[in-house]
Amino acid sequence: MNFKEQIDTNRLPKHIAIIMDGNGRWAKERGKMRVFGHENGVAAVRNTAEAAAEIGIEFVTLYAFSTENWKRPQKEVDALMNLLVKTINKETETLNKNKIRLKAIGDLKSLKKETYAELLTAMENTSANNRMTMTLALSYSSRWEIVEAVKQIAEKTKNGELEPQAITSETITQHLSTNYMPDPELLIRTSGEQRISNYLLWQIAYSELYFCPKYWPDFEKEDFYKAIVDFQTRERRFGKTSEQITK
Ligand code: IPE
Ligand code: IPE
Ligand code: MG
Repeated sequence: MNFKEQIDTNRLPKHIAIIMDGNGRWAKERGKMRVFGHENGVAAVRNTAEAAAEIGIEFVTLYAFSTENWKRPQKEVDALMNLLVKTINKETETLNKNKIRLKAIGDLKSLKKETYAELLTAMENTSANNRMTMTLALSYSSRWEIVEAVKQIAEKTKNGELEPQAITSETITQHLSTNYMPDPELLIRTSGEQRISNYLLWQIAYSELYFCPKYWPDFEKEDFYKAIVDFQTRERRFGKTSEQITK
């Protein structure tokens, strides 16, 4: 039986976050430039989006470019920005076909002008789609996001809009750029690395972590479904005892 058939569709995670990693190593293994790996990662994004939409996942959030990735060689950064421009435009049709709404989080203004413009257009053109929301984390890091949230909250307390004593965990959640989605129940990272790399630190407080050894360009629908099957074997206790959960 394939993994898709093993999924209990009554217990699907609403939100799956993914760290798409390993493009560079995938290319290096083939004696190619790193950019070749990024180009070949596009198909995996398309397949993952389709796989998720097919079974009824509501939110998928993909880590595409981190704040720290700006420190890579300029040539790679430029190539990535150009690839984004090319891809976003081309993929709008697939997104609409699958009724997927595109969103983005991160310091979007820091993106190359053309990339930012393409992104805005694609978000507008897909804004009416309601089957699934696919969010790209671009020029994103969790600490950056938390600092931005703190600044907004500080402004509100300064203006008297918000009492410091009234700040709750929910206040923080509402000021993060992810405020339109629930926390991810599942976080997948490809390439075998087992770290978070400044991704959704607040939001993954209780996420189940799944590490896939494949490099991102090799990630297929069945790998995605396998992660969900694995997720469904886990007992999520949220601090309680096993007996409390199962009774
Ligand atoms: C992930 O692949 C894509 C981005 C970070 C933009 P990498 O480029 O990190 O590939 P590796 O990890 O070096 O193999
Ligand atoms: C994390 O991957 C960022 C993205 C996938 C966009 P990196 O390859 O940049 O992470 P580190 O540097 O290995 O932790
Ligand atoms: Mg990497």
